[in-house]
Amino acid sequence: MLTSAALFFAAYLAGSLPFAVIVSRILGLADPRAYGSGNPGATNVLRSGNRKAAILTLLGDALKGSLVVILARILAPQLGIPATAIAMAGLFAFLGHVFSIFLRFSGGKGVATAAGVLLAMSPLAGALVLAIWLLVALTTRYSSAAALAAALAAPLVTAWLVPDPGWIGAVCAMAAILLWRHTTNIKRLFSGQESRIGSRSK
Ligand code: G3P
Repeated sequence: MLTSAALFFAAYLAGSLPFAVIVSRILGLADPRAYGSGNPGATNVLRSGNRKAAILTLLGDALKGSLVVILARILAPQLGIPATAIAMAGLFAFLGHVFSIFLRFSGGKGVATAAGVLLAMSPLAGALVLAIWLLVALTTRYSSAAALAAALAAPLVTAWLVPDPGWIGAVCAMAAILLWRHTTNIKRLFSGQESRIGSRSK
């Protein structure tokens, strides 16, 4: 019980690392919370015009999700933690990104971190959800529309390829939070004001 709680707290702390802010600060760029959509995520960092910063943000935010799940999987048997705690650790990493302790409990929308968690959960399931993201992103050039499609598909793909109640619950929770975090994007999509990938405006 106590070891599970410690694992979840460590996962939350790792997920809280805001790579958009960290990378931007290291590269001497403006804080992504001060321009574009104001979201500390790779899509918004790309609006700075610095592709390298956006790629590093994407990798950092995805890797922290993957690493938490991989480490939890390695540690679980040694610490006597139940297998369901691995899925919960992934969920806590995602929650850390969205409600970062380092950003006064605000944070990003969770797309890259969720992708990292899904890829570590099952490379095939993660790749399928990423393929859906890519298909919608390439056809619409809306990062948010791609994220919404991927979030809707993720629970179904998980139920199909990883029929484990812990993982299905964790992925459903991530998808629901991700959809909620895209409320303003959904409004902009319907009003035709959403910006396309790579465009500098909001
Ligand atoms: O990954 C976040 C993306 O779906 C939306 O980002 O900055 O356009 O709100 P943004």
